[in-house]
Amino acid sequence: MNPYAIAYVRGSLALDSRGSPTVRVSVRLEGGGVGVALAPSGASRGLREAVEVRDGGVRWGGRGVGIAIARVNEVIAPRLRGVDARNQSYVDGILIALDGTPNKANLGSNATTPTSVAVAKAAASQSELPLYSYLGGVGARTLPVPLMNIINGGVHAGNELSFQEFMVAPVGFDSFKEALRAGVEVYMSLKGYLRDRYGLGSTNVGDEGGFAPPMRFVEEALDALVKAVERAGYKVGLDVLLGLDVAANQLYDGREAVYKVDGRRLSAGELLDYYLDLTSRYPVAYIEDPFMEDDLESTAKLTGRLAGRALIVGDDLYATNLRILARGLELKATNAALLKVNQVGTLTEALDYARLALGNGLKVVVSHRSGDTEDPFIADLAVALNTSLIKTGAPARGERTAKYNRLLEIEEELGPTAVYPGMRAFKW
Ligand code: PGA
Ligand code: ZN
Repeated sequence: MNPYAIAYVRGSLALDSRGSPTVRVSVRLEGGGVGVALAPSGASRGLREAVEVRDGGVRWGGRGVGIAIARVNEVIAPRLRGVDARNQSYVDGILIALDGTPNKANLGSNATTPTSVAVAKAAASQSELPLYSYLGGVGARTLPVPLMNIINGGVHAGNELSFQEFMVAPVGFDSFKEALRAGVEVYMSLKGYLRDRYGLGSTNVGDEGGFAPPMRFVEEALDALVKAVERAGYKVGLDVLLGLDVAANQLYDGREAVYKVDGRRLSAGELLDYYLDLTSRYPVAYIEDPFMEDDLESTAKLTGRLAGRALIVGDDLYATNLRILARGLELKATNAALLKVNQVGTLTEALDYARLALGNGLKVVVSHRSGDTEDPFIADLAVALNTSLIKTGAPARGERTAKYNRLLEIEEELGPTAVYPGMRAFKW
């Protein structure tokens, strides 16, 4: 008997952090190793992402996952039985072939993603290795700098902020634990600042645990971040850097080819000037999806203009897709690439994407989704890849803190060999 042979794959129902149904997959191996993974789900999705299969109709507001669960149990499970769980690329190859579409439209990325991840977890458990070392080997020991999304806007919040995410990155610290402490202190001091200035309702939180204050202007949010960092006793630009996820797809009006920002209608050129102006006045060291997903050229211009000063990051721009990333590399579109496993639907495809990005000198940012779960998988993935950056929201809401708590645990387990890159995560 091969103890790593897959004995059992089972899909079942779970809820994500927005209360939407999602898919849980449990995998058990002949030797007793078990892996369980849950599918996350985005709200500001890129057009080129792998797609979820949803039931439609009236139940669950159309968001049921009965079909996706049936795909796991009736289509995927019989084909994976007996396959060696250590052969991840073979397992994922079966998922890709069973699906047969370029974007997982048949099985659904909400079926393939948790299956792929659960297989890796089962193999790790069978080999009695923590997941980060099973995936990353003995060299996996870099804890990521967290980009903590502490003010939520865009489609993640019920306010008027155009940009989706306003983040702080604690870099001036020697360990993940100390960095996380500083991030939490900034989060707490932001709460006080918002209460004083905008009143009680301003400290309600959005989808990723950041506050969703009744702000209207990008600069109001950046001012609040600066104040919060200073009130917490840290130096902005030195101890703590600022970051933005514009999620520009959501601001783009295709008919007029303009971006709607703070009540203004900006051409791509005007938006670029706006970024240059913002980065000259605020220590913004990270800008994600600054232009809509087809505009690699404008993104490349911004990357060139901010060279050495900011990470320009492709999320919807690349959709964790190797081919789109290859085109981005040709154009030098960005100096960093976001990685979300469910944007492509299997772990192997996501790892190939990470390898291409890292091999070409890009930073890789491992990321959650706005609809996420208590599954801490991405914490292990970030350490496995030594990527040095993670995006997993504010230090609030269980689905976000699950990842932070897992990173704390990993750092402790690694002991003195753990590395916290701090400012180096922003240099390339
Ligand atoms: P999403 O947002 O999960 O709603 O797509 C996260 C992001 O844009 O980074
Ligand atoms: Zn994004």
